[in-house]
Amino acid sequence: MEPQRWLKKGMMVSLLLVSLAVEVLSADNYSRHDFPLDFVFGSGTSAYQVEGASNQEGRTSSIWDAFAYAGYAHGANGDVACDSYHKYKEDVRLMVETGLDAYRFSIAWSRLLPNGRGSVNPKGLQYYNNLINELISNGIQPHVTLHNYDLPQVLEDEYGGWVSREVIRDFTYYADVCFREFGDRVLYWTTVNEPNVFALGGYDQGNSPPQRCSPPFCATKSTRGNSTSEPYLAVHHILLAHSSAVRLYRRKYRDKQQGFVGISIYTYGFFPLTNTKKDVIASQRVRDFLVGWIMEPLQHGDYPISMKTNAGARIPAFTNRESEQVKGSYDFIGVIHYTNINVTDNSDILKNQLRDLTADMAAKILGQDLFSNEEYAVTPWGLQQELYKFKHLYGNPPIFIHENGQRTASNSSLQDVSRVKYLHGYIGAMLDALREGSNIKGYFAWSFLDLFELLDGYRSSFGLYYVDRDDPELKRYPKLSAIWYSQFLKGRKTSNVGTIELKKYPSLVSVGQLFE
Ligand SMILES: *[C@@H]1O[C@H](CO)[C@@H](O)[C@H](O)[C@H]1NC(C)=O
Ligand SMILES: *[C@@H]1O[C@H](CO)[C@@H](O)[C@H](O)[C@H]1NC(C)=O
Ligand SMILES: *[C@@H]1O[C@H](CO)[C@@H](O)[C@H](O)[C@H]1NC(C)=O
Ligand SMILES: *[C@@H]1O[C@H](CO)[C@@H](O)[C@H](O)[C@H]1NC(C)=O
Repeated sequence: MEPQRWLKKGMMVSLLLVSLAVEVLSADNYSRHDFPLDFVFGSGTSAYQVEGASNQEGRTSSIWDAFAYAGYAHGANGDVACDSYHKYKEDVRLMVETGLDAYRFSIAWSRLLPNGRGSVNPKGLQYYNNLINELISNGIQPHVTLHNYDLPQVLEDEYGGWVSREVIRDFTYYADVCFREFGDRVLYWTTVNEPNVFALGGYDQGNSPPQRCSPPFCATKSTRGNSTSEPYLAVHHILLAHSSAVRLYRRKYRDKQQGFVGISIYTYGFFPLTNTKKDVIASQRVRDFLVGWIMEPLQHGDYPISMKTNAGARIPAFTNRESEQVKGSYDFIGVIHYTNINVTDNSDILKNQLRDLTADMAAKILGQDLFSNEEYAVTPWGLQQELYKFKHLYGNPPIFIHENGQRTASNSSLQDVSRVKYLHGYIGAMLDALREGSNIKGYFAWSFLDLFELLDGYRSSFGLYYVDRDDPELKRYPKLSAIWYSQFLKGRKTSNVGTIELKKYPSLVSVGQLFE
């Protein structure tokens, strides 16, 4: 779908002249100085979502390319995206102007290792070295993810990708190359981005890469797969591959490089629809199935009891040796969080013999549509509750908020007041959690640029910076949220001063009126 052309020449100027009443910021007053000195604030993207150059200089396809080409993202794809492959210097300059401490990005496995394993693509190696060096020389910490929905297609074709044990060996090899080549400068590694949602979409409902599912559970036209067992299998292999990479890092690189390896998890604020015991338990069960699925093995070496009960033999068992390897295999957890859900019991579904992962949860989930481009409600207490649970259930692990941000239609205004309100609310909630003793180390606003979104292509956007996709130069423009975040990072105090008139300000910088 062709993005709407809304950013006409001169619009930047006229935007600045509108008089606009904004009802601002209901959370407590705070500033960056309320956070610990070593707390890291950044923003993030991922390889396929920004790089472009998808078939240039040796990169081969990933399962995400195949997904996009099959038309699942409103017909859009990442062939060009934000062209960050060529424009990384400009992007890093914007990061410096914004005042980021850190940038979260991912490496495209199929750019570095076009055959999935074996020889390294020198052009790919050069690109990531250039990007990392550009960040470091500008004082920005690189936080790198190894797998973000983009397994090399060649491995999917060869043995079915994450449903095969063979992927453990190949992922470990890929991680080894990354640690060896970049680990002298990269200290924060995330093995796999949100494996829980990757498996739910990719192997149960079939509506994200690699589109595997089986009837009657497919949310899309089914191709191949098995929704009853493959989501469990995929996550099992992800946990084994993750822990194998962590073990490798600890044995071979940690003493020398002094870095940290973690994994990220998609979370919701989980709330029972009613305060009946059934709904309260259902809400805990859904949390087990989404968060406990990853955290319980990492913490205790096994899956949650509710999952083992409802999935039975369809959830693989860890051997003792595997369980020992998985247990404790993280230095930090990346928390991805956008919104809350209400959960109500649906235990009747357990009478069905044929059940997928979703049915095994035995609950109905009421939440905002992930497939629309409607804005998220600002309900930051869900993040605060989730951070509290990480503290109490898993021994207060070091946490980075890896993703958090507001969705808007990509053709909406540069005056993204709803994103400012969202960021203000959630950063405030995170500060509250920190004050309650949560071990939070950093925060990454999603996303730095308007980029190619997994489910929505270019129809919805999360960016602090707008990218004019009709301009051959793909020029970036700061939104109000970029200015707000920048002012916050530079130490200005944000306050709940009620309604503010943002009127006729001569430059975007005077959005500083939002601050005390
Ligand atoms: C926030 O700051 C404003 C303006 O200084 C003040 O009126 C208000 O009482 C403060 N609110 C809190 C919760 O501290
Ligand atoms: C899916 O996997 C389960 C468990 O291995 C098996 O019993 C079932 O026959 C498979 N279904 C399909 C459609 O292949
Ligand atoms: C969940 O329930 C609460 C309380 O009834 C309601 O305010 C909220 O809008 C619901 N949230 C969602 C995502 O449905
Ligand atoms: C944005 O796009 C939607 C759907 O494509 C359209 O209905 C809406 O009018 C557009 N908004 C603007 C401000 O152009």
